Amino acid sequence: MGPGPSNVAPSVLEAMSRPLVGHLDPVFVKMMEEIKAMLRVVFQTQNEMTFPVSGTGSAGMEFCFVNLIEPGDEVIIGVNGVFGTRMTDVAERCGAKVIKVEAPWGRIIEANQIAEALKKCRPKLVALVHAETSTGALTPVEEISRLTHEAGALLVLDTVTSLGGCPVKIDEWNVDAVYSGTQKCLSCPPGLAPVSLSPRALEVARHRQKKVQSWYLDVNLLASYWGQERVYHHTAPITMNYALHEALRLTLAEGLEKRWQRHQSNHLALRDGLAALGLCLAAQAGHQLWQLNAVTVPQGVDEAAARKRLLTEFNIEIGAGLGPLKGKIWRVGLMGETSTRENAKTFLAALSQILNAPAVQTSPAVAAAQSR
Ligand SMILES: Cc1ncc(COP(=O)(O)O)c(C=O)c1O
Repeated sequence: MGPGPSNVAPSVLEAMSRPLVGHLDPVFVKMMEEIKAMLRVVFQTQNEMTFPVSGTGSAGMEFCFVNLIEPGDEVIIGVNGVFGTRMTDVAERCGAKVIKVEAPWGRIIEANQIAEALKKCRPKLVALVHAETSTGALTPVEEISRLTHEAGALLVLDTVTSLGGCPVKIDEWNVDAVYSGTQKCLSCPPGLAPVSLSPRALEVARHRQKKVQSWYLDVNLLASYWGQERVYHHTAPITMNYALHEALRLTLAEGLEKRWQRHQSNHLALRDGLAALGLCLAAQAGHQLWQLNAVTVPQGVDEAAARKRLLTEFNIEIGAGLGPLKGKIWRVGLMGETSTRENAKTFLAALSQILNAPAVQTSPAVAAAQSR
């Protein structure tokens, strides 16, 4: 129940134990096509250029920036947590002139902040973290997308934690470049970064003045392997692709809307249970993630000691706060397979005991979660 990796279904683990085939084997090529098609459904996009980059979510982040940015380009980046901060580092390494739009950790990036920044520069792109895993806040995309495109810029979106756990609508929201990870709400081990580029973003990458400085992440080269030509680029991680294929199959068998509802309902049950314990969520009201609950540590409670007891006595792993939130929050993941009512109740019962609240069987926290 940490901020990822989430639990993985047995059939995903079983898929990973199957015999290997080559990365150009017809069976694998068919699987690549199925993965691309399923990713388009999960991202809600028609983008042809949709595939999993070999690497974790951060490789997806680098993929978007290295392909779209050339030295000297201005870019606006929303920074309200660890991953917006990481984006600025990656963009600066690409030679970008970064204009940061900042919000206190736990709050969202407001559209009017982006509007103000757009008055002062002519950026090539605006980049946002949809679901900030370090703070538990979900920044709405639509209005920022409208402003970005009115200014003639591209929109880049980090959906590492949001994909599969709450609505992510790439075409409807007009997102030009999006990346995710496999280990959160898709419930697959870490190792691949699903990405998607709009035709507009692809044009930008195709007509650069300089070659993409990363050979490994250059979409112009990767497209020849993931497209119809099937030119060898690198040896695809076969086993990880088996796993993603099965994880996507399970996601779509459940149904996206149903999956989002499951994440929402377990989040609300957890929130009610926490409220019964006198605890509250730290992220901005109305913008709290369903899949990652940042819980304010109550005054007088030793954050690290409580987390250690959860792990050693109850076998429950949760995450600590990072940066300015270190020592102030617990991060409780209800992602993918981990998002169950049973997990929410087990966590609440354990926390009740640690905080010396009423005994497990009579815990009002568990009762509150139960009654949802
Ligand atoms: C929002 C967000 N972006 C990017 C990343 C980086 O992904 P990875 O750790 O898989 O490289 C993470 C990882 O937790 C994340 O939560």
